[in-house]
Amino acid sequence: MWDLGWRQIAAIDAALADGVIDQRGWHEAMAGLLRVPYLTAKTPWEQSGKSGGEEDRVRTRKVVTEAVDRGGTFLDVGCANGYLMECVAIWAQEKGLDVEPHGVDIVPEFELKGRIEVPHEDPGGVRKLLWVDQS
Ligand SMILES: C[S@@+](CC[C@H](N)C(=O)[O-])C[C@H]1O[C@@H](n2cnc3c(N)ncnc32)[C@H](O)[C@@H]1O
Repeated sequence: MWDLGWRQIAAIDAALADGVIDQRGWHEAMAGLLRVPYLTAKTPWEQSGKSGGEEDRVRTRKVVTEAVDRGGTFLDVGCANGYLMECVAIWAQEKGLDVEPHGVDIVPEFELKGRIEVPHEDPGGVRKLLWVDQS
């Protein structure tokens, strides 16, 4: 899916632009594209669309935390299973900054996967994920 993913996404975007589908249809089409590969991926980062190994993940994702220069809330719009925002909170803690992660996504099943499989010091307690209401 990944090599051709951009073509599929472009087609979904074009269908929205052309009025073939509405916003709800766009959400459903995008969710349909991502649901199986994300939910069946082996690692927490692949479950949020980041391919590659551990070293690559840290190298390409830790830079996000370089932009964090104070404590507060962090919102990941399109957070999938919430792994990136959890990592940002942990990496920020290493810098002495208290960051509270929040996330929003269009596919609620990703949150459940994250609750079960993404390490967190307080599973299900501190994590604050919001979901786009498609109704
Ligand atoms: C590539 S993943 C990124 C996950 C995470 N932010 C990261 O960088 O590891 C993109 C996520 O964005 C979500 N998404 C796409 N369009 C969205 C939208 N309009 N609103 C909320 N989430 C969206 C998808 O469902 C998918 O889970």
